[in-house]
Amino acid sequence: MAGYTHSAFRRLCRRLGADRVYSELMNATGIIYKGIERELAYFTEEERPIHLQLYGRNPEEIAKAAEIVAEKCRPDAIDINFGCSVKKVLKSKSAAYLLQYPEIMKEIIRETVAALKPYNIPVTAKIRLGFKEDNLEKIAENLIEGGVSLIALHPRLSTELFSGKARWERIKDLKKLSPVPIVGSGDVWKWKDVERMFEETGCDGVMAGRGAVSNPWIFKEFKERRDYKATFSERIEFILQELEMMWEFMKKEKACKEIKMQIVQLFKGIRGKAKLNEKVMRSKSCRELLENLKEIKTAN
Ligand SMILES: Cc1cc2nc3c(=O)[nH]c(=O)nc-3n(C[C@H](O)[C@H](O)[C@H](O)COP(=O)(O)O)c2cc1C
Repeated sequence: MAGYTHSAFRRLCRRLGADRVYSELMNATGIIYKGIERELAYFTEEERPIHLQLYGRNPEEIAKAAEIVAEKCRPDAIDINFGCSVKKVLKSKSAAYLLQYPEIMKEIIRETVAALKPYNIPVTAKIRLGFKEDNLEKIAENLIEGGVSLIALHPRLSTELFSGKARWERIKDLKKLSPVPIVGSGDVWKWKDVERMFEETGCDGVMAGRGAVSNPWIFKEFKERRDYKATFSERIEFILQELEMMWEFMKKEKACKEIKMQIVQLFKGIRGKAKLNEKVMRSKSCRELLENLKEIKTAN
């Protein structure tokens, strides 16, 4: 998830019980012509198993970019994104745009699998139900024929973005027909949703998205099968740890700007969050942000 699921956040999620993690999106053309962006591709051993996620327009570019990433980063899997429905990405005829062309999706998987064979790195895919209409079966059939190793499904159409309800029954349908593991995604807000998705769909894994960004303790909650409300001071501690880890791969001031989005997420559900958010957002430098966080921590 762009801007959130960098190495620092992923490490903290692994420590809280996440079994595997996905990187932010990386653009295939960018990798080929400008090289790999360190902030996006950086990961530590602690994060494994990790899927580095790519998106692009055509099989040749994606396969070439995957090879560059495999050679340099040796992730546990390379994931091809066919789900992102952000306007700018759709305009470039990539990601979810390709859901309209299952044959091209097959070729992308086939060529990427071939390119990664020498590295022994599997190719996985993240999909939606379709672009404007649900053609899940056709999409799955093509991905499987192309040699995909795992499919993660967010069961909404691309045109729906995040509206309505994720149709979990389609995860169940996909699981029934697929010889490869299926990971379900969509509307997983609480640990009980994780449990329910496993039960209702028979999927092999559950992916937590927005729910994990605002409550990374969801992983601990699911592992321990109990509610856990992180205290205010734990939330601040999480932010401070995350920030320190971000400095390994991101300039200090940039990290302090970027983490503000995460802070707003972690303050969700906290009393008096509007005032706290304002204080965080108004911080103009790292020094000011750190001072404000410490002040907030002692005052609460
Ligand atoms: C801000 C944001 C960024 C996202 N970025 C990605 C991404 O880079 N790659 C991806 O596969 N899915 C991405 N997703 C989709 C999530 O992985 C997930 O499939 C979707 O949010 C539904 O699950 P949820 O209801 O648990 O959030 C993103 C979602 C959001 C809200």
